[in-house]
Amino acid sequence: MRENMLSNKLKEAREYERKYLEEKGLDDRPLFHATGTVGWINDPNGFCRYNDEYHLFYQYYPYDRHWGPMHWGHSVSKDLIKWQYLPCAIAPDEEYDKDGCFSGSAIETPDGKLLLVYTGVIKKEEADGTERDYQQQCVAIGDGVDFEKVEINPVIPTEMIPAGNDIHDFRDPKIIKNGDKYYCFTVNRHADNSGQVLVYESTDGLKWSFAKVLDMSENKVGGIWECPDYFDLDGKRILIVSPQETKGDGENIFPGFNNFFLVGQGKDFLDFNRQTVQPIDLGTDFYAAQTVETADGKRVMIGWMQNWETCNYENDKHDYYGMMTMPRELRIKDGIVYQNPLKELSNYYKDKVSYNNVVVEKEISLDKISGRIFDMTLDITPEDKAKSYDFGIKLAKDLNYETTIVYDSKHHTITLDRNKSGVTFGSLGSRTFKVDSADNHIKLRIVMDKYALEVFVNDGKQAAAMKIDTPIQVEDISFFSDEKLSMNIVKYDFDLTKF
Ligand code: FRU
Repeated sequence: MRENMLSNKLKEAREYERKYLEEKGLDDRPLFHATGTVGWINDPNGFCRYNDEYHLFYQYYPYDRHWGPMHWGHSVSKDLIKWQYLPCAIAPDEEYDKDGCFSGSAIETPDGKLLLVYTGVIKKEEADGTERDYQQQCVAIGDGVDFEKVEINPVIPTEMIPAGNDIHDFRDPKIIKNGDKYYCFTVNRHADNSGQVLVYESTDGLKWSFAKVLDMSENKVGGIWECPDYFDLDGKRILIVSPQETKGDGENIFPGFNNFFLVGQGKDFLDFNRQTVQPIDLGTDFYAAQTVETADGKRVMIGWMQNWETCNYENDKHDYYGMMTMPRELRIKDGIVYQNPLKELSNYYKDKVSYNNVVVEKEISLDKISGRIFDMTLDITPEDKAKSYDFGIKLAKDLNYETTIVYDSKHHTITLDRNKSGVTFGSLGSRTFKVDSADNHIKLRIVMDKYALEVFVNDGKQAAAMKIDTPIQVEDISFFSDEKLSMNIVKYDFDLTKF
């Protein structure tokens, strides 16, 4: 598409990004957690492989650190670790998306173009004077940088919601090709007020018809669902949904916003029999996950590393607000989805430090174990296997700050606590979740990237993401325990010149 065919809104966003980069340059960004060029981001969108690169779009409002009329920001990567910014991809510049281009997905077309499917939002005044959203699915096609919205938008209008369901909540299309057909998985609010996934089918990605309701909450798996994804993994079939308005279970399902793997099985492509509900991430900051299949057949997931409940607080003062988790590889073992950092992360390692059988008693620190950008694995065994203990790590610590991770072997819990990390909001200062740790032994992999903390428990059986706001120069680390423990530790720093 020629530059002069771009809308004024898109030109304005691109010009704003260009000026920002030219005049200010990127400020204090994490290295391998993707951020937007400038301003606000939320959900990952259009996470796909195209022309041997991985494209990551995201919900984006460049002009502010707060949510606003949604654009799609855009980054690209060769290995999913190191990201490069591309210009803003789409802006809310048409009558049918004037109030926002909401979340969606992307797929390569048979003629080598990249097709984006997103939700066009318009606000309309209702008879009672209130303003309500109308959400319809739209398509834009392009070359991987510039995209043209198709004339027949919206391609899946409100009228195609099966009768009896809500006509306002209808969004976040995930497009998938199976055989010679395209399928579009969208969320919608059922008449019972909770979430469901509606599937549409098409032979060209443009003309769609309703296929079926794939799964629904029935008010048991949270309220409205958002951001679906659907794929097969190691003999199971997985539907990802992000429910709002979830009732907590006092263990690993937290009230409010959640993100779940609905794990099941099915015969043909649209057959889904849900067997289990697995919370994806047990930290404070994870939502709206999307996946991609890599060139070598891995299923890789990325999530928005933020929480709608706390994202309106102005803690840090960066030019960007919001980031993605690092991409995590998914595998199934014994019916459970495991998540682990990609092995490509190790291409960026430098300075390995390791200690074996360190005795941890009270609080200790270790030579060369400090920093704000590292990948560190700890293996903890109590000297007396029968005795329960509390073991903890303090990160990003000095006299004023610390972020702690505590494993309580008696209650089989892990607590991530950021109450002293600089955050100024009162909720979600800490999070406690249950772990499987039968023999009192625990393995923790902690990946820190400046303000991003991701913890992988017992080889990725559980994961927890938390964002902190501690000043970057605060970087001490210590370990503590109330019983005598033995700890093996391996830590790598990252070669900053490679980013
Ligand atoms: C999820 C979500 C989506 C919507 C988008 C708007 O975080 O609410 O359902 O498309 O954010 O930015």
